[in-house]
Amino acid sequence: MRIGILTGGGDCPGLNAVIRAVVRRSVSNYGSEVVGFLEGWRGPIENMVMPLTLQSTGGLIQRGGTILRTSRTNPFKIERGPERIMESMKSNRLDALIAMGGEDTCGVAHKMHQQHNLNVVCVPKTIDNDLNATDFTFGFDTAVNIVMEAIDRLHTTAESHNRVLVCEVMGRHAGWIACYGGIAGGADHILVPEIPIDLTNVVESIKKRHARGKDYSIVVVAEGAKLEHQEALKDQELDSFGHVRLGGIGETLAKLIEKHTGYETRAIVLGHIQRGGSPTAFDRVLATRFGVLAADLVHEKKFGRMVSLQGSFVKDVPVADGVDSLKTLDMDLYKVAEVFFG
Ligand code: F6P
Repeated sequence: MRIGILTGGGDCPGLNAVIRAVVRRSVSNYGSEVVGFLEGWRGPIENMVMPLTLQSTGGLIQRGGTILRTSRTNPFKIERGPERIMESMKSNRLDALIAMGGEDTCGVAHKMHQQHNLNVVCVPKTIDNDLNATDFTFGFDTAVNIVMEAIDRLHTTAESHNRVLVCEVMGRHAGWIACYGGIAGGADHILVPEIPIDLTNVVESIKKRHARGKDYSIVVVAEGAKLEHQEALKDQELDSFGHVRLGGIGETLAKLIEKHTGYETRAIVLGHIQRGGSPTAFDRVLATRFGVLAADLVHEKKFGRMVSLQGSFVKDVPVADGVDSLKTLDMDLYKVAEVFFG
């Protein structure tokens, strides 16, 4: 077979490990050929390809980012976008495509499969861990470890200065990174998009902590968290999938905490640091398992499927199951985090 592969949406540690695994499994075990489309869905639209060989994909397991580069291109917003994808598949003599991405990239793959009969298999990736039908996406564990390490560092400086430090983390509209990172780093309060921020509650919890002799606090806030009664921002630029660029809640919150507690408060935005660098061992192994299974599904002609982690097993599910709704934070986990607030 000849197989295409692309990576779309935000980059994330583990993408290269999947590319390596797909090529190794397809070439060594099935005698197939693999080519990479560059820059997400822009690749097949503009017919930008590069050959992927055992040589060119060797030694990639530890490398962050994606050698195929990425973009947030929505083919359904581009003149003849879907048709041009099908033309590239044909001109490159490809039998199938493996699309790696989050809700947007996999959402496009699902539509292309349904409406244009594209032979596609999806590999879910996102540091946000907000894709349905998989317990975890690779990249998430790496991001959480980066958050944990950052909080460890913030602890020592917060303590030295008697400060409240508000750490804003990514995760879009789900609180997975905030909650996991916050619990692992021993945060004193965690704020997530799933629960509107009750400022009185945050202020009381910090005061309670200070009253029992702790002169500093660490608050983790997810970029998508909103204050109660906060109005939606108007005139914001949207990307081609209709998403606003999030960020800024940390600074707003820090000012409010300082005003209502009297404690010196600063905000830190971790930003893209969370998406950079080498994947953790967990993410390398998950990405490798996903890549091998994706290659198997293609060779079994099981199209319109997405690889997924269920418990400790990797399985396949309909792509539709992964993209039909967002997987928001497990509230039982948040209740565990709450035990340590204040
Ligand atoms: O989806 C991954 C993610 O890192 C989100 O957590 C964040 O909101 C978004 O991407 C940022 O995207 P960009 O890098 O395009 O600004």
